[in-house]
Amino acid sequence: MKAEPCTYVIFGATGNLSRIKLMPALYHLDVANRLPAGTRILAVGRRVWDQEKWLSEVRDMVVAKTRDEFDEAVFQRFCARLQYHQGDIQDPACYSSLAELLNEDANFPKNIAFYLSISPADFGLVMEKLSDNQLFDEQFGWRRVIIEKPFGYDLDSAQALQKRISHFLREEQIYRIDHYLGKGMVQNVLVFRFANVLLEPLWNRNYIDHIQITHSEELGIDSRGDYYNGSGAMRDMLQSHLLQLLTLVTMEPPASMEAEALRDEKVKVLKSIRPIPKEAVHGYAFRGQYAQGQVRGEKVKSYLQEDHVPANSVTETYASMKLYIDNWRWRGVPMYLRTGKRMAKAQSTISICFRHPPLQFFRDTNVNCMSQNWILLGIQPEECIRIEMTVKEPGLEMSTRTSSLDASFRNDDEKAIDAYEDLLLDVLKGDRSLFLRFDEVEYAWRIVDPILQTWAIERDYIATYPAGSWGPEDSRLFEKSSQTWRSSLTPEGK
Ligand code: BG6
Repeated sequence: MKAEPCTYVIFGATGNLSRIKLMPALYHLDVANRLPAGTRILAVGRRVWDQEKWLSEVRDMVVAKTRDEFDEAVFQRFCARLQYHQGDIQDPACYSSLAELLNEDANFPKNIAFYLSISPADFGLVMEKLSDNQLFDEQFGWRRVIIEKPFGYDLDSAQALQKRISHFLREEQIYRIDHYLGKGMVQNVLVFRFANVLLEPLWNRNYIDHIQITHSEELGIDSRGDYYNGSGAMRDMLQSHLLQLLTLVTMEPPASMEAEALRDEKVKVLKSIRPIPKEAVHGYAFRGQYAQGQVRGEKVKSYLQEDHVPANSVTETYASMKLYIDNWRWRGVPMYLRTGKRMAKAQSTISICFRHPPLQFFRDTNVNCMSQNWILLGIQPEECIRIEMTVKEPGLEMSTRTSSLDASFRNDDEKAIDAYEDLLLDVLKGDRSLFLRFDEVEYAWRIVDPILQTWAIERDYIATYPAGSWGPEDSRLFEKSSQTWRSSLTPEGK
Protein backbone atom coordinates (compact mmCIF):
# COMPACT_ATOMS: atom_id res chain seq x y z
CA MET A 1 0.00 0.00 0.00
CA LYS A 2 1.26 3.43 -0.87
CA ALA A 3 1.12 6.43 1.46
CA GLU A 4 -0.78 9.26 -0.19
CA PRO A 5 -0.38 12.97 0.53
CA CYS A 6 -2.90 14.10 3.05
CA THR A 7 -3.84 16.72 5.55
CA TYR A 8 -3.47 15.53 9.13
CA VAL A 9 -5.91 17.54 11.27
CA ILE A 10 -5.04 17.10 14.93
CA PHE A 11 -7.66 17.98 17.51
CA GLY A 12 -6.10 18.52 20.93
CA ALA A 13 -2.81 19.46 19.28
CA THR A 14 -1.54 21.39 22.30
CA GLY A 15 -2.23 18.49 24.69
CA ASN A 16 0.04 15.90 26.21
CA LEU A 17 -0.28 13.10 23.64
CA SER A 18 0.42 15.46 20.80
CA ARG A 19 3.50 16.85 22.57
CA ILE A 20 5.11 13.63 23.56
CA LYS A 21 4.00 11.34 20.75
CA LEU A 22 2.21 12.74 17.72
CA MET A 23 4.32 15.73 16.71
CA PRO A 24 7.63 13.94 17.37
CA ALA A 25 6.35 10.91 15.40
CA LEU A 26 5.35 13.06 12.42
CA TYR A 27 8.72 14.82 12.55
CA HIS A 28 10.57 11.48 12.60
CA LEU A 29 8.53 10.32 9.60
CA ASP A 30 9.64 13.47 7.81
CA VAL A 31 13.27 12.79 8.75
CA ALA A 32 12.89 9.31 7.25
CA ASN A 33 11.37 10.84 4.09
CA ARG A 34 8.18 8.89 4.67
CA LEU A 35 5.72 11.80 4.61
CA PRO A 36 4.48 12.08 1.02
CA ALA A 37 5.25 15.40 -0.67
CA GLY A 38 2.51 17.92 0.00
CA THR A 39 1.45 16.42 3.35
CA ARG A 40 0.23 19.14 5.73
CA ILE A 41 -0.46 19.10 9.45
CA LEU A 42 -3.20 21.34 10.74
CA ALA A 43 -3.25 21.69 14.52
CA VAL A 44 -6.54 22.57 16.15
CA GLY A 45 -6.22 24.00 19.65
CA ARG A 46 -8.12 26.26 22.02
CA ARG A 47 -5.17 28.43 22.99
CA VAL A 48 -4.87 31.76 21.29
CA TRP A 49 -1.55 31.11 19.58
CA ASP A 50 -0.25 32.50 16.33
CA GLN A 51 1.79 30.58 13.79
CA GLU A 52 5.08 31.76 15.26
CA LYS A 53 4.17 30.58 18.73
CA TRP A 54 2.98 27.21 17.38
CA LEU A 55 6.24 26.65 15.52
CA SER A 56 8.27 27.43 18.61
CA GLU A 57 6.12 25.03 20.66
CA VAL A 58 6.61 22.30 18.08
CA ARG A 59 10.34 22.91 18.12
CA ASP A 60 10.33 22.24 21.89
CA MET A 61 8.24 19.08 21.42
CA VAL A 62 10.57 17.74 18.76
CA VAL A 63 13.82 18.70 20.51
CA ALA A 64 12.64 16.93 23.67
CA LYS A 65 12.02 13.67 21.80
CA THR A 66 14.39 13.61 18.86
CA ARG A 67 16.29 10.32 18.48
CA ASP A 68 19.20 11.64 16.48
CA GLU A 69 20.83 14.98 16.48
CA PHE A 70 18.28 17.71 15.81
CA ASP A 71 18.41 18.57 12.11
CA GLU A 72 17.56 22.22 11.49
CA ALA A 73 17.13 21.77 7.73
CA VAL A 74 14.63 18.91 8.14
CA PHE A 75 12.88 20.84 10.86
CA GLN A 76 12.42 23.80 8.51
CA ARG A 77 10.94 21.46 5.90
CA PHE A 78 8.66 20.06 8.62
CA CYS A 79 7.62 23.58 9.68
CA ALA A 80 6.48 24.33 6.14
CA ARG A 81 3.85 21.61 6.64
CA LEU A 82 2.49 23.04 9.88
CA GLN A 83 -0.39 25.39 10.49
CA TYR A 84 -2.28 26.32 13.64
CA HIS A 85 -6.06 26.73 13.67
CA GLN A 86 -7.41 28.33 16.81
CA GLY A 87 -10.81 27.09 17.90
CA ASP A 88 -12.84 25.59 20.72
CA ILE A 89 -14.30 22.19 19.90
CA GLN A 90 -17.48 23.11 21.78
CA ASP A 91 -18.02 26.09 19.46
CA PRO A 92 -19.75 25.49 16.08
CA ALA A 93 -17.70 28.31 14.55
CA CYS A 94 -14.56 26.21 15.00
CA TYR A 95 -15.87 23.72 12.44
CA SER A 96 -17.23 26.14 9.88
CA SER A 97 -13.93 28.04 9.77
CA LEU A 98 -12.08 24.72 9.57
CA ALA A 99 -14.23 23.60 6.64
CA GLU A 100 -13.67 26.89 4.87
CA LEU A 101 -9.92 26.61 5.28
CA LEU A 102 -9.73 22.99 4.16
CA ASN A 103 -12.04 23.47 1.20
CA GLU A 104 -10.65 26.72 -0.08
CA ASP A 105 -6.94 26.64 0.53
CA ALA A 106 -5.48 24.55 -2.28
CA ASN A 107 -2.36 23.87 -0.19
CA PHE A 108 -4.29 21.37 1.91
CA PRO A 109 -4.56 17.95 0.23
CA LYS A 110 -8.14 16.72 -0.01
CA ASN A 111 -7.33 13.39 1.63
CA ILE A 112 -7.91 14.25 5.26
CA ALA A 113 -7.13 12.29 8.45
CA PHE A 114 -8.71 13.69 11.61
CA TYR A 115 -6.86 12.68 14.76
CA LEU A 116 -9.05 13.04 17.86
CA SER A 117 -6.55 13.47 20.67
CA ILE A 118 -9.28 14.76 22.98
CA SER A 119 -11.39 13.57 25.87
CA PRO A 120 -13.44 10.51 24.81
CA ALA A 121 -16.51 12.34 26.10
CA ASP A 122 -16.13 14.71 23.11
CA PHE A 123 -15.68 12.09 20.35
CA GLY A 124 -19.37 12.04 19.43
CA LEU A 125 -19.75 15.79 19.39
CA VAL A 126 -16.67 16.45 17.25
CA MET A 127 -17.71 13.83 14.70
CA GLU A 128 -21.20 15.20 14.52
CA LYS A 129 -19.89 18.70 13.86
CA LEU A 130 -17.38 17.53 11.26
CA SER A 131 -20.17 15.66 9.55
CA ASP A 132 -22.53 18.67 9.70
CA ASN A 133 -19.86 20.65 7.88
CA GLN A 134 -19.54 17.97 5.17
CA LEU A 135 -15.99 17.25 6.23
CA PHE A 136 -16.53 13.49 5.97
CA ASP A 137 -17.73 13.81 2.41
CA GLU A 138 -15.34 11.75 0.26
CA GLN A 139 -16.13 13.32 -3.10
CA PHE A 140 -12.65 14.80 -3.56
CA GLY A 141 -10.50 12.55 -1.38
CA TRP A 142 -10.67 10.05 1.45
CA ARG A 143 -11.65 11.04 4.99
CA ARG A 144 -10.42 9.00 7.97
CA VAL A 145 -10.79 9.46 11.70
CA ILE A 146 -8.34 8.21 14.30
CA ILE A 147 -9.72 7.69 17.78
CA GLU A 148 -7.65 7.15 20.88
CA LYS A 149 -8.66 4.72 23.59
CA PRO A 150 -10.66 4.34 25.73
CA PHE A 151 -13.43 3.50 23.31
CA GLY A 152 -16.26 3.68 25.81
CA TYR A 153 -16.22 3.05 29.51
CA ASP A 154 -17.87 -0.34 29.47
CA LEU A 155 -19.80 -2.48 26.98
CA ASP A 156 -22.96 -0.34 27.00
CA SER A 157 -21.17 2.97 26.53
CA ALA A 158 -18.91 1.52 23.81
CA GLN A 159 -21.99 0.30 21.92
CA ALA A 160 -23.69 3.66 22.35
CA LEU A 161 -20.61 5.49 21.06
CA GLN A 162 -20.34 3.13 18.11
CA LYS A 163 -23.99 3.66 17.26
CA ARG A 164 -23.53 7.39 17.34
CA ILE A 165 -20.41 7.54 15.21
CA SER A 166 -21.70 5.06 12.67
CA HIS A 167 -24.25 7.71 11.68
CA PHE A 168 -21.37 9.78 10.36
CA LEU A 169 -18.73 7.30 9.23
CA ARG A 170 -18.36 3.92 7.58
CA GLU A 171 -16.27 1.34 9.46
CA GLU A 172 -13.51 1.66 6.80
CA GLN A 173 -13.08 5.30 7.78
CA ILE A 174 -12.56 4.61 11.48
CA TYR A 175 -9.07 3.94 12.86
CA ARG A 176 -9.32 2.91 16.54
CA ILE A 177 -5.79 3.13 17.79
CA ASP A 178 -4.14 0.80 20.29
CA HIS A 179 -0.57 1.99 20.25
CA TYR A 180 0.70 -1.38 21.49
CA LEU A 181 0.04 -2.79 18.04
CA GLY A 182 2.53 -0.31 16.62
CA LYS A 183 5.38 -1.54 18.82
CA GLY A 184 8.06 -3.35 16.84
CA MET A 185 8.31 -6.26 19.21
CA VAL A 186 4.55 -6.75 19.27
CA GLN A 187 4.56 -7.14 15.49
CA ASN A 188 7.50 -9.48 15.91
CA VAL A 189 5.26 -11.80 17.93
CA LEU A 190 3.41 -12.57 14.70
CA VAL A 191 6.61 -13.09 12.75
CA PHE A 192 8.05 -15.28 15.51
CA ARG A 193 4.96 -17.45 15.54
CA PHE A 194 4.09 -17.67 11.88
CA ALA A 195 7.44 -17.42 10.10
CA ASN A 196 9.06 -20.21 12.12
CA VAL A 197 7.85 -23.74 11.65
CA LEU A 198 9.57 -24.90 14.84
CA LEU A 199 7.03 -23.51 17.24
CA GLU A 200 3.67 -24.27 15.79
CA PRO A 201 3.53 -27.97 16.82
CA LEU A 202 4.23 -26.95 20.42
CA TRP A 203 1.93 -23.95 20.58
CA ASN A 204 -1.04 -25.54 22.30
CA ARG A 205 -2.49 -27.16 25.41
CA ASN A 206 -0.46 -30.34 24.95
CA TYR A 207 2.83 -28.59 25.65
CA ILE A 208 2.10 -25.25 27.26
CA ASP A 209 1.43 -25.11 31.00
CA HIS A 210 0.38 -21.48 31.19
CA ILE A 211 1.02 -18.02 29.70
CA GLN A 212 1.74 -14.81 31.58
CA ILE A 213 1.62 -11.23 30.34
CA THR A 214 3.05 -8.53 32.58
CA HIS A 215 3.08 -4.80 32.04
CA SER A 216 4.61 -2.94 34.94
CA GLU A 217 5.51 0.72 35.26
CA GLU A 218 7.66 2.62 37.71
CA LEU A 219 5.74 5.80 37.05
CA GLY A 220 2.66 6.76 38.99
CA ILE A 221 -0.22 8.64 37.48
CA ASP A 222 1.57 12.00 37.12
CA SER A 223 -0.95 14.73 36.46
CA ARG A 224 -3.62 12.36 35.08
CA GLY A 225 -5.53 11.93 38.35
CA ASP A 226 -8.82 13.11 36.86
CA TYR A 227 -8.75 10.63 34.02
CA TYR A 228 -7.13 7.78 35.90
CA ASN A 229 -9.36 7.81 38.92
CA GLY A 230 -12.38 7.25 36.72
CA SER A 231 -10.60 4.57 34.77
CA GLY A 232 -8.24 2.38 36.82
CA ALA A 233 -5.75 -0.20 35.61
CA MET A 234 -8.32 -2.67 34.30
CA ARG A 235 -9.76 -0.18 31.82
CA ASP A 236 -6.56 1.74 31.17
CA MET A 237 -4.30 -1.21 30.29
CA LEU A 238 -5.90 -4.62 30.61
CA GLN A 239 -9.05 -4.24 28.56
CA SER A 240 -7.03 -2.76 25.71
CA HIS A 241 -3.30 -3.34 25.43
CA LEU A 242 -2.95 -6.58 27.39
CA LEU A 243 -5.91 -8.33 25.79
CA GLN A 244 -4.51 -7.33 22.40
CA LEU A 245 -1.19 -8.93 23.28
CA LEU A 246 -3.03 -12.05 24.40
CA THR A 247 -4.87 -12.33 21.09
CA LEU A 248 -1.63 -12.12 19.11
CA VAL A 249 0.04 -14.82 21.18
CA THR A 250 -2.89 -17.22 21.08
CA MET A 251 -4.73 -16.68 17.78
CA GLU A 252 -4.85 -19.18 14.93
CA PRO A 253 -2.75 -18.41 11.86
CA PRO A 254 -4.77 -15.91 9.79
CA ALA A 255 -5.57 -16.62 6.15
CA SER A 256 -3.36 -13.64 5.25
CA MET A 257 -1.83 -10.60 6.93
CA GLU A 258 -4.57 -8.49 5.43
CA ALA A 259 -6.54 -6.42 7.94
CA GLU A 260 -9.82 -8.33 7.96
CA ALA A 261 -8.19 -11.77 8.07
CA LEU A 262 -6.01 -10.76 10.99
CA ARG A 263 -8.80 -9.12 12.91
CA ASP A 264 -11.15 -12.07 12.32
CA GLU A 265 -8.68 -14.35 14.09
CA LYS A 266 -8.19 -11.92 16.97
CA VAL A 267 -11.92 -11.67 17.48
CA LYS A 268 -12.25 -15.46 17.48
CA VAL A 269 -9.89 -15.61 20.47
CA LEU A 270 -11.81 -12.93 22.36
CA LYS A 271 -15.09 -14.72 21.66
CA SER A 272 -13.66 -17.99 22.97
CA ILE A 273 -12.66 -16.56 26.33
CA ARG A 274 -14.73 -18.18 29.05
CA PRO A 275 -17.05 -15.57 30.60
CA ILE A 276 -16.27 -14.83 34.21
CA PRO A 277 -19.44 -15.19 36.31
CA LYS A 278 -20.00 -12.21 38.60
CA GLU A 279 -20.14 -14.44 41.67
CA ALA A 280 -16.70 -15.89 40.81
CA VAL A 281 -14.89 -12.61 40.10
CA HIS A 282 -12.61 -12.93 43.13
CA GLY A 283 -11.26 -16.21 41.88
CA TYR A 284 -10.34 -14.63 38.55
CA ALA A 285 -9.31 -11.05 39.19
CA PHE A 286 -7.45 -9.04 41.77
CA ARG A 287 -6.99 -5.32 42.31
CA GLY A 288 -4.62 -3.22 44.38
CA GLN A 289 -3.56 0.37 44.91
CA TYR A 290 -0.09 1.73 45.61
CA ALA A 291 0.78 3.01 49.04
CA GLN A 292 3.83 5.15 49.79
CA GLY A 293 7.14 3.59 48.96
CA GLN A 294 10.40 3.97 47.13
CA VAL A 295 11.04 3.86 43.42
CA ARG A 296 14.69 3.93 42.32
CA GLY A 297 15.70 5.01 45.79
CA GLU A 298 13.33 8.00 45.84
CA LYS A 299 10.43 8.26 48.26
CA VAL A 300 7.14 8.51 46.40
CA LYS A 301 3.57 9.36 47.39
CA SER A 302 0.72 6.93 47.74
CA TYR A 303 -2.02 6.96 45.11
CA LEU A 304 -4.37 8.65 47.55
CA GLN A 305 -1.91 11.51 47.98
CA GLU A 306 -1.76 12.22 44.23
CA ASP A 307 -3.45 15.33 42.81
CA HIS A 308 -7.12 15.04 41.82
CA VAL A 309 -7.59 11.73 43.63
CA PRO A 310 -10.37 11.61 46.26
CA ALA A 311 -9.22 10.52 49.71
CA ASN A 312 -11.53 7.50 49.73
CA SER A 313 -10.78 6.29 46.21
CA VAL A 314 -10.73 2.53 45.62
CA THR A 315 -9.54 2.89 42.03
CA GLU A 316 -7.06 0.15 41.24
CA THR A 317 -3.54 0.99 40.11
CA TYR A 318 -2.77 -2.73 39.88
CA ALA A 319 -4.98 -5.33 38.25
CA SER A 320 -4.43 -8.98 37.52
CA MET A 321 -6.65 -11.64 36.06
CA LYS A 322 -6.82 -15.25 34.96
CA LEU A 323 -8.55 -16.21 31.74
CA TYR A 324 -9.28 -19.43 29.90
CA ILE A 325 -9.66 -19.63 26.14
CA ASP A 326 -12.16 -22.39 25.53
CA ASN A 327 -11.09 -23.54 22.11
CA TRP A 328 -9.44 -26.61 20.64
CA ARG A 329 -5.93 -25.20 21.03
CA TRP A 330 -6.07 -23.67 24.51
CA ARG A 331 -8.78 -25.34 26.56
CA GLY A 332 -7.57 -25.67 30.16
CA VAL A 333 -4.42 -23.50 29.82
CA PRO A 334 -4.57 -20.56 32.23
CA MET A 335 -3.62 -17.15 30.90
CA TYR A 336 -2.46 -14.74 33.61
CA LEU A 337 -2.37 -11.00 32.94
CA ARG A 338 -1.20 -8.25 35.28
CA THR A 339 -0.43 -4.57 35.11
CA GLY A 340 0.48 -1.93 37.65
CA LYS A 341 1.76 1.57 38.22
CA ARG A 342 4.60 2.26 40.66
CA MET A 343 5.97 -1.23 40.48
CA ALA A 344 9.54 -2.46 41.01
CA LYS A 345 10.53 -2.19 37.38
CA ALA A 346 9.17 -0.80 34.12
CA GLN A 347 8.76 -3.62 31.63
CA SER A 348 6.37 -5.47 29.36
CA THR A 349 6.89 -9.17 28.86
CA ILE A 350 5.09 -12.23 27.60
CA SER A 351 6.26 -15.41 29.31
CA ILE A 352 5.20 -18.80 28.04
CA CYS A 353 5.78 -21.68 30.40
CA PHE A 354 5.93 -25.23 29.04
CA ARG A 355 4.88 -28.36 30.86
CA HIS A 356 7.27 -30.43 32.97
CA PRO A 357 9.03 -33.20 31.15
CA PRO A 358 8.18 -36.68 32.46
CA LEU A 359 10.28 -37.23 35.60
CA GLN A 360 10.88 -40.97 35.43
CA PHE A 361 13.58 -40.91 32.83
CA PHE A 362 16.20 -39.21 35.02
CA ARG A 363 15.17 -40.88 38.27
CA ASP A 364 18.06 -41.44 40.72
CA THR A 365 20.33 -38.90 38.99
CA ASN A 366 21.02 -35.28 39.80
CA VAL A 367 19.20 -34.13 36.71
CA ASN A 368 16.76 -31.47 37.61
CA CYS A 369 13.63 -32.14 35.67
CA MET A 370 11.76 -29.57 37.64
CA SER A 371 12.92 -26.73 35.37
CA GLN A 372 10.36 -26.06 32.76
CA ASN A 373 11.14 -24.59 29.36
CA TRP A 374 10.10 -20.99 28.96
CA ILE A 375 9.78 -18.76 25.95
CA LEU A 376 10.25 -15.14 26.94
CA LEU A 377 9.19 -12.30 24.71
CA GLY A 378 10.48 -8.97 26.01
CA ILE A 379 8.36 -6.17 24.56
CA GLN A 380 9.99 -3.21 26.32
CA PRO A 381 12.33 -1.75 27.37
CA GLU A 382 14.41 -4.82 26.53
CA GLU A 383 13.27 -6.31 23.24
CA CYS A 384 14.12 -9.98 23.13
CA ILE A 385 13.07 -13.48 22.24
CA ARG A 386 14.53 -16.19 24.45
CA ILE A 387 13.98 -19.89 24.88
CA GLU A 388 15.14 -21.42 28.14
CA MET A 389 16.43 -24.98 27.99
CA THR A 390 17.90 -27.38 30.50
CA VAL A 391 21.51 -28.39 29.68
CA LYS A 392 24.11 -30.54 31.37
CA GLU A 393 26.67 -28.68 33.44
CA PRO A 394 30.24 -29.29 32.34
CA GLY A 395 32.13 -31.65 34.63
CA LEU A 396 32.02 -35.19 35.95
CA GLU A 397 28.68 -34.85 37.71
CA MET A 398 25.42 -35.41 35.92
CA SER A 399 23.83 -32.15 36.93
CA THR A 400 22.03 -29.49 34.98
CA ARG A 401 21.38 -25.80 34.66
CA THR A 402 19.24 -23.50 32.55
CA SER A 403 20.68 -21.90 29.46
CA SER A 404 18.87 -19.64 27.04
CA LEU A 405 18.76 -19.44 23.28
CA ASP A 406 18.60 -15.83 22.30
CA ALA A 407 16.99 -14.60 19.11
CA SER A 408 17.09 -10.89 19.89
CA PHE A 409 16.62 -8.98 16.73
CA ARG A 410 17.97 -5.49 17.00
CA ASN A 411 21.59 -4.64 16.26
CA ASP A 412 23.24 -1.82 18.21
CA ASP A 413 23.00 0.61 15.29
CA GLU A 414 19.30 -0.11 14.67
CA LYS A 415 17.24 2.34 16.66
CA ALA A 416 13.76 1.56 17.91
CA ILE A 417 11.08 3.65 16.29
CA ASP A 418 8.07 4.82 18.24
CA ALA A 419 4.80 2.94 17.80
CA TYR A 420 3.01 6.11 16.71
CA GLU A 421 5.30 6.54 13.68
CA ASP A 422 4.23 3.21 12.30
CA LEU A 423 0.56 3.80 13.01
CA LEU A 424 0.40 7.37 11.67
CA LEU A 425 1.96 6.12 8.47
CA ASP A 426 -0.51 3.23 8.22
CA VAL A 427 -3.35 5.75 8.24
CA LEU A 428 -1.85 7.44 5.18
CA LYS A 429 -1.60 4.06 3.49
CA GLY A 430 -5.14 3.06 4.43
CA ASP A 431 -3.84 -0.03 6.23
CA ARG A 432 -6.13 -0.89 9.13
CA SER A 433 -4.56 -4.17 10.19
CA LEU A 434 -2.98 -2.62 13.28
CA PHE A 435 -6.15 -0.77 14.28
CA LEU A 436 -9.08 -2.23 16.18
CA ARG A 437 -12.33 -3.24 14.58
CA PHE A 438 -15.38 -2.50 16.68
CA ASP A 439 -16.10 -6.14 17.48
CA GLU A 440 -12.64 -6.48 19.06
CA VAL A 441 -13.41 -3.60 21.37
CA GLU A 442 -16.85 -4.97 22.09
CA TYR A 443 -15.66 -8.47 23.01
CA ALA A 444 -12.85 -7.05 25.13
CA TRP A 445 -15.44 -5.13 27.15
CA ARG A 446 -17.57 -8.25 27.50
CA ILE A 447 -14.61 -10.00 29.14
CA VAL A 448 -13.85 -7.34 31.74
CA ASP A 449 -17.34 -5.96 32.38
CA PRO A 450 -18.32 -8.49 35.12
CA ILE A 451 -15.12 -7.63 37.00
CA LEU A 452 -15.65 -3.90 36.68
CA GLN A 453 -19.25 -4.19 37.80
CA THR A 454 -18.29 -6.21 40.85
CA TRP A 455 -15.48 -3.85 41.82
CA ALA A 456 -17.75 -0.85 41.31
CA ILE A 457 -20.04 -1.94 44.12
CA GLU A 458 -17.31 -3.10 46.49
CA ARG A 459 -16.23 0.29 47.65
CA ASP A 460 -15.07 -0.41 51.22
CA TYR A 461 -11.70 -1.98 50.72
CA ILE A 462 -8.84 -2.31 48.30
CA ALA A 463 -5.55 -4.15 48.94
CA THR A 464 -2.48 -1.92 48.86
CA TYR A 465 1.13 -2.52 47.86
CA PRO A 466 4.18 -0.42 48.61
CA ALA A 467 5.22 1.72 45.65
CA GLY A 468 8.31 0.14 44.14
CA SER A 469 7.22 -3.46 44.85
CA TRP A 470 5.89 -6.17 42.53
CA GLY A 471 2.32 -5.48 43.61
CA PRO A 472 -0.05 -7.05 46.14
CA GLU A 473 -0.08 -10.72 47.08
CA ASP A 474 -2.48 -12.23 44.55
CA SER A 475 -1.24 -15.80 44.32
CA ARG A 476 -4.77 -17.09 44.80
CA LEU A 477 -5.29 -16.52 41.10
CA PHE A 478 -2.87 -19.31 40.24
CA GLU A 479 -4.15 -22.76 39.54
CA LYS A 480 -1.22 -24.65 41.07
CA SER A 481 1.52 -23.88 43.57
CA SER A 482 4.16 -24.36 40.85
CA GLN A 483 2.78 -21.32 39.04
CA THR A 484 3.96 -17.88 40.21
CA TRP A 485 4.51 -14.52 38.56
CA ARG A 486 7.68 -14.35 36.56
CA SER A 487 9.27 -10.92 36.66
CA SER A 488 12.62 -11.51 35.03
CA LEU A 489 13.89 -12.27 31.57
CA THR A 490 16.87 -14.23 32.83
CA PRO A 491 16.93 -17.68 34.45
CA GLU A 492 18.87 -16.37 37.45
CA GLY A 493 16.27 -13.75 38.20
CA LYS A 494 13.29 -16.05 37.73
C1 BG6 B 1 -1.58 4.21 27.89
C2 BG6 B 1 -2.13 4.28 29.28
O1 BG6 B 1 -2.54 3.75 26.99
O2 BG6 B 1 -0.47 3.33 27.88
C3 BG6 B 1 -1.06 4.74 30.27
O3 BG6 B 1 -3.22 5.19 29.31
C4 BG6 B 1 0.15 3.84 30.17
O4 BG6 B 1 -1.55 4.76 31.60
C5 BG6 B 1 0.60 3.72 28.72
O5 BG6 B 1 1.18 4.41 30.96
C6 BG6 B 1 1.71 2.71 28.59
O6 BG6 B 1 2.23 2.79 27.30
P1 BG6 B 1 3.75 2.48 27.02
O7 BG6 B 1 3.88 2.57 25.54
O8 BG6 B 1 4.54 3.53 27.76
O9 BG6 B 1 4.01 1.12 27.57
